[in-house]
Amino acid sequence: MDWGMKNRLSQIIKPDTNRTVMLAVDHGYFLGPTSGLEEPAKTIEPLLPYADSLMLTRGVLRVSVNPGSSTPIVLRVSGGNSILGEDLSKEAITVSVKDAIRLNVSAVALSIYVGSKYEHQTLKNLATLVSECEEYGIPVLAVTAVGKEMVRDARYLSLACRIAAEIGAHFVKTYYCEDFQKVVKTCPVPVVIAGGKKIAEKDALKLAYNAVKDGAVGVDMGRNIFQSKDPVGMIKAVRQIVHENAKPEDVFRSLKL
Ligand code: 5RP
Repeated sequence: MDWGMKNRLSQIIKPDTNRTVMLAVDHGYFLGPTSGLEEPAKTIEPLLPYADSLMLTRGVLRVSVNPGSSTPIVLRVSGGNSILGEDLSKEAITVSVKDAIRLNVSAVALSIYVGSKYEHQTLKNLATLVSECEEYGIPVLAVTAVGKEMVRDARYLSLACRIAAEIGAHFVKTYYCEDFQKVVKTCPVPVVIAGGKKIAEKDALKLAYNAVKDGAVGVDMGRNIFQSKDPVGMIKAVRQIVHENAKPEDVFRSLKL
């Protein structure tokens, strides 16, 4: 890995703890105005000081984040589908690497849909993106998105994460599952977990705790932060778990729910 690539990656995965709290607000790319993200700027602004990086689309970045911000950006560069479309897995690369560089991003993110109808297309997207990003030292985050019918178990998620890493993703975003240690152990690049659908705050904090205990370098969490009654309290609590190994029951007490 060259210096630029390592430098960008260390803007996201903090070298002092080797962990990261990424804030995901990219949901609109196929879900439209997701609950809690109707006005992205208003959601993002109070959370930004506590995020190690912000994952979002270029459209929202341009109008919702102050260019003076020093928070590293992980730019979603795949899409082209919607929740109403033919098949969620029918994604393309939607942003050129040139535009990602112009936006001064620290990494780019793309979804792969292993086992879905357009699996091949999404894996080819990943290969193309990695090859282009290698030229400029930009890390690629592969998101192991799952179709409605896919089971989120260790066998499936290990398969998806490993394929992403073999194609050249520099880090991988996946879901927490039973036997998650196996997913991490068989994936040669760092793994972060998505939060998934909104669950009780106590459970989301346990999820983050278990994920890092089982080897994840952190979280790329969205709905369980910005849909909480106390989004700022929630991201602060997640930070304590991820960076300080705090216990979920201890940080839960500080939430204003
Ligand atoms: C879907 C995505 C997301 O849009 C998002 O990042 C998910 O975050 P969360 O599940 O924590 O709301 O990557 O594939």
